[in-house]
Amino acid sequence: EKGGFKHFMLKEIYEQPRAVSDTLAGRLFPERGEIFLEGLNLTDEQLRGVEKLNIVACGTSWHAALGGKFLIEKMARLSVEVDIASEFRYRDPLVDEHTLTVLISQSGETADTLAALREAKAKGGITVAICNVVESSIARESDGVIYTHAGPEIGVASTKAFTTQLVALYLLALHLGRVRGMIDAVRCRELIEPLLSLPRKMEQALESDEQIQTIAREFMHARDFLYLGRGLQYPIALEGALKLKEISYIHAEGYPAGEMKHGPIALIDENVPVVFLCPINDTFEKAISNMEEVRARSGRVIAVATEGHVGPLGDVDALITVPETTDEIAPVLTSIPMQLLAYHIAVLKGTDVDQPRNLAKSVTVE
Ligand code: M6R
Repeated sequence: EKGGFKHFMLKEIYEQPRAVSDTLAGRLFPERGEIFLEGLNLTDEQLRGVEKLNIVACGTSWHAALGGKFLIEKMARLSVEVDIASEFRYRDPLVDEHTLTVLISQSGETADTLAALREAKAKGGITVAICNVVESSIARESDGVIYTHAGPEIGVASTKAFTTQLVALYLLALHLGRVRGMIDAVRCRELIEPLLSLPRKMEQALESDEQIQTIAREFMHARDFLYLGRGLQYPIALEGALKLKEISYIHAEGYPAGEMKHGPIALIDENVPVVFLCPINDTFEKAISNMEEVRARSGRVIAVATEGHVGPLGDVDALITVPETTDEIAPVLTSIPMQLLAYHIAVLKGTDVDQPRNLAKSVTVE
């Protein structure tokens, strides 16, 4: 049942290129410069009438939501608020008939996310779910649904559900941008392009597995880890830290790299590994200078960078590369080393990777 893998988590990490292909299947029309989302169930007119967009989720799905904000604001120029479901549902949120609330949930059964959906509906808002489980409660009760089609996820630590959520959000952003006239057919085609090579590039990112195992051996005894990234890499930093906490029980925190000076830098010394997410993009230089600040305090740096763009990184303690793609797609690739690093550290520590202590796969109580 684990297909030759030692754990479901590892199997699911390796399934990601296939999972992403399935998320994309039948949805891309590069010739016409269009995206088709079969279950969205909302007319173009309804989408044009949206004045405000909320994305609500828990845990890893909330990290995907943070990425979604970046993508939707960029491609559709629509302002997006991101909320943790347990906060949203009790806050008397501002929702009216021109508000679109997007609920993200792998299981479609998370109690707080389901309650947030009901709250948004009760206020007359439009709702769309991004779900992995077909016919789950959240999928059924939403006005529309975008299925991630990742296949069953058994490991408690979410992996393929996360990367497919990011891809689904990219498709939604593109579709909203197109329908709302922020992106024309030519631009849409350009933005579809990097999706076509994504599964292949994910395969390449998986090839670092053995190297990451070596890195895991070197860093497994650290008591705390810091994960830093900017822009779309910030949610990946949060996700990397969550993966490590969840399955290896090592304390880890994710921060926007630019926020380091405002507090977390005080933690840095030779005992704290800092995972830097720094693929090539407009803020690459800034990431490098943040990295120098860490090195100046004897911090140990594990850099995740783009193949062919590692020169400016200088001396790092460990380097993992991913293939080059656009800034908007890069998070799907940088997620892979985050998962593998947490996985190998957990295996070395001998924890129960698929069933970490105190955690349930789907949290159906408050
Ligand atoms: O099924 P959901 O996406 O609604 O689950 C939300 C969280 O409980 C879930 O992502 C959790 O944080 C994972 N165990 C993280 O790996």
